[in-house]
Amino acid sequence: MIGPLQDQFDRKIDYMRVSVTDRCNLRCIYCMPSEGVKFIEHHEILRYEEILRIVRVASRFGISKVRITGGEPLMRRDIVRFIASLSEVSGIEDISLTTNGVLLKLYAGDLFKAGLHRINVSLDSLDPVKYESITRGNHLSDVWEGIEEAERIGLKPIKINNVPIRGFNDDEILDFAMLTIKRPIGVRFIEFMPIGAKEIWEERKYISTEEIKNKIRVLGDLKPVNSDRQAGPAENYRLPGASGVIGFISPLSNHFCSTCNRLRLTSDGKLRPCLFSESEIDLKNPIRNGCDDDEIERLLCLAVQIKPQGHRITERMPCRFQRTMSKIGG
Ligand code: 5AD
Ligand code: SF4
Repeated sequence: MIGPLQDQFDRKIDYMRVSVTDRCNLRCIYCMPSEGVKFIEHHEILRYEEILRIVRVASRFGISKVRITGGEPLMRRDIVRFIASLSEVSGIEDISLTTNGVLLKLYAGDLFKAGLHRINVSLDSLDPVKYESITRGNHLSDVWEGIEEAERIGLKPIKINNVPIRGFNDDEILDFAMLTIKRPIGVRFIEFMPIGAKEIWEERKYISTEEIKNKIRVLGDLKPVNSDRQAGPAENYRLPGASGVIGFISPLSNHFCSTCNRLRLTSDGKLRPCLFSESEIDLKNPIRNGCDDDEIERLLCLAVQIKPQGHRITERMPCRFQRTMSKIGG
């Protein structure tokens, strides 16, 4: 390793989120419109070999954790082969995947064999009718079977990401919290962010972590759990006697920028130093124009240097971003 990537604000950057596609088999209301989504053209999407090259160079600078995201990463052809190659990159110690779970049952076994360590499944409702109204897809049973298969195979920890939205699914917060009681599943509540499909976010639909915690307290005291390094920005708690952990991710009420350790790579090859900043550094064109690894190193360092101190998103709401989550990588 040449040296850790350190930014201007003394944050050590050791985590890269890699979006492998902007396509998805769902159309969650807060992420994409129902029709007419313009996807990035295939030839603009980084090839696996190109992503691997970037990760190899980044690993020499201390990137040791990679999360694969989308769109829906399991939609991309040969994703298992890609994960297997990624797990062979020296210096990459932790590989994880964020999926909507629709194809998980099909892939869980192969993903595990390919070296995938852990998964996060996005799931916003346990009620089939509501699930369909949020995702515009009728796949709740597929997702649930996928989670059970992943558990059976031994992928762990399995975490469910839930975005409570007032008036849509906030009546299910306790049901999700209770999932942690009997099984070792982690449930993470993410504050609804003003990013994604236009016009969907409204302040009245946003529910703060504090409010979510207060609702959950009727089930018992939330005992803080020591966060490990893999916890990322989540604050973790456990209900009395529960096997699984409840996490809270509070991008709006308590932003965690001061400990942010990540860089994002979009599916079209842009390094994005911050989810909430439109600044991006292109790697695709330099790579396709034949640049050497030193140039990739230079651009990675540049991305780290321009990483903003914080997002200040609450000071500039409502705000709209050019890219939706599916294009940035969730
Ligand atoms: N606010 C909060 N979370 C979001 N995600 C997508 N859009 C938003 C938003 N506006 C989440 C998904 C998924 C992860 C990839 O990002 O629910 O769990
Ligand atoms: Fe697909 Fe995830 Fe966006 Fe839903 S939130 S449409 S699952 S990329």
